[in-house]
Amino acid sequence: MAYRVLISDPLSEEGIKPLIEKENIEIVRNPGWDETALLENIDQFDALLVRSQTQVTRPLLEKAARLKIVGRAGVGVDNIDLDAATENGIIVVNAPNGNTNSAAEHTVAMIMALSRNIPQAYHALKQKQWDRKRFVGVELKQKTLGVVGLGRIGAEVAKRAKGQRMSVIAYDPFLTDEKADQLGIKRGTLEEVLRSGDFITVHTPLLKETKHLINAQAFELMKDGVQIVNCARGGIIDEDALYDAIVSGKVAGAALDVFEQEPFTEHKLLTLPEVVATPHLGASTVEAQEIVAIDVSHDVIRFLEGKAVRHPVNLPSIPSESMHQIEPYFYLAEKLGTFIIDLANEVIQDIRITYSGELSEMETGPVTRSAVKGILKRYLGSRVNDVNALFLADRKGLTVSESRTSAQKGFTNLITIEVTGPSGTRKVAGTLLNGLGARLVRVDEYRVDTTPEGHMVVIQHIDQPGVIGRMGSAFAQHDINIATMQVDRSGVGGNAIMLLTIDRHLEDEALAEIALLDEIKSVTAIDL
Ligand code: NAD
Ligand code: MLT
Repeated sequence: MAYRVLISDPLSEEGIKPLIEKENIEIVRNPGWDETALLENIDQFDALLVRSQTQVTRPLLEKAARLKIVGRAGVGVDNIDLDAATENGIIVVNAPNGNTNSAAEHTVAMIMALSRNIPQAYHALKQKQWDRKRFVGVELKQKTLGVVGLGRIGAEVAKRAKGQRMSVIAYDPFLTDEKADQLGIKRGTLEEVLRSGDFITVHTPLLKETKHLINAQAFELMKDGVQIVNCARGGIIDEDALYDAIVSGKVAGAALDVFEQEPFTEHKLLTLPEVVATPHLGASTVEAQEIVAIDVSHDVIRFLEGKAVRHPVNLPSIPSESMHQIEPYFYLAEKLGTFIIDLANEVIQDIRITYSGELSEMETGPVTRSAVKGILKRYLGSRVNDVNALFLADRKGLTVSESRTSAQKGFTNLITIEVTGPSGTRKVAGTLLNGLGARLVRVDEYRVDTTPEGHMVVIQHIDQPGVIGRMGSAFAQHDINIATMQVDRSGVGGNAIMLLTIDRHLEDEALAEIALLDEIKSVTAIDL
């Protein structure tokens, strides 16, 4: 199958080579579409690759009927409506590691530019002014750098600041004393960082919680003459408050790579000589652009080939070792999900999944998603997938719960799914057998052993002589070949079950006739 990939922001030619080299991928690069043209054309694409310019909005994602994946060549995904992507079953992947070094180096360059007035002096000299007095700077040595957000980039900036003989104090909700000690820095509260930094640099994502984190009150806490750096995201610093703080003299200078509205060319901040600015260049190095484009291209290819992606943003990320262990269970879980919803044959309210044996030790979240996908497919068709399965279950009012037990119950691994609807609870269990693959091993309380595939029929009946023969004849009358048949019962003359695999779908008419036979309590057709 040929996939169409739209690359709507400039990406490194070298970096997208993995995509170009794939014969089944057709790429449309930088068609220069504005928002309206993008909306008009997005439904022709299976994958969309962006940097930070393209706004991947809810209306765009809702129009993107074919779109399966959005790849962000970079870290920040604030230009992508993640909720809308999840709701529409579109996976978002990013390239979180490729530009860390470049962004950290750019931050250091901005700190140096600020401390020594390099851009201002350069500008004056270009205007033929040889002015040495105006551009006296300050040393970094023995100054304190306050870092807000000590993730990948913040930590790299801290290491480099140590190289400049600065003291570093950082605030990050996830920063431990151990990590701070390792880096040779101090851990502080946000207030401590704001109060003690001679230079303050922010490295958080832009979130509801970090929007205007550095506002007028934050500036109040800072030292007089503090210098501010933002190479993370516009909006973390309140630009109006920053302007006022510079004009009032509280802030001596600011170096900004990112802005609340980009492109950013008309703003009062740009009129201030104390402001050093670059047009979102933190990740703009040949190296970073190549790595992020390669990383994201590989993840897009992996996804289109049905493999697990490395850097999912709207799905929990699972280490590849754990993914390797659980991947074989996806198929089994999805089949069990579809089996049980056909068996229940009614709208259910509650799904409970139990993982037993070696599965109880594993990261089973993705297996649960596969099971829920198998169930919901019956209600929602192909629009349900791993990305939106739990979201859609929640929206349908279904509760999904997981439990685990180390008890092996005769199997080294066992997935049991129970669903409850108005008529009661139904149960199914399956296992992965070495060499035999997925096996269905329980239907309600009955033992069976078959591959969960193809056309199946579950018949609940009373255990009496002749039932099996009559059943065989009934199927023959409808010209349906029975491939396999298994029977189990609660006890002699009690409730019993027949599980048949048949060579074609059992039509409603035949099913209704078979259900009329004596001793038959129910007949359910299941197509996996
Ligand atoms: P990261 O996820 O590794 O680190 C972000 C850190 O911020 C995390 O440790 C997190 O715990 C912390 N954090 C979150 N909320 C916080 C809060 N309220 N207070 C303090 N800390 C908080 O991300 P990263 O790769 O280091 O990227 C950091 C930022 O830099 C992102 O906004 C990213 O988009 C941006 N970025 C910009 C450029 C550029 O071109 N200028 C390039 C790369 C990344
Ligand atoms: C990022 O978040 O990765 C950066 O802003 C870089 C970019 O958009 O190119």
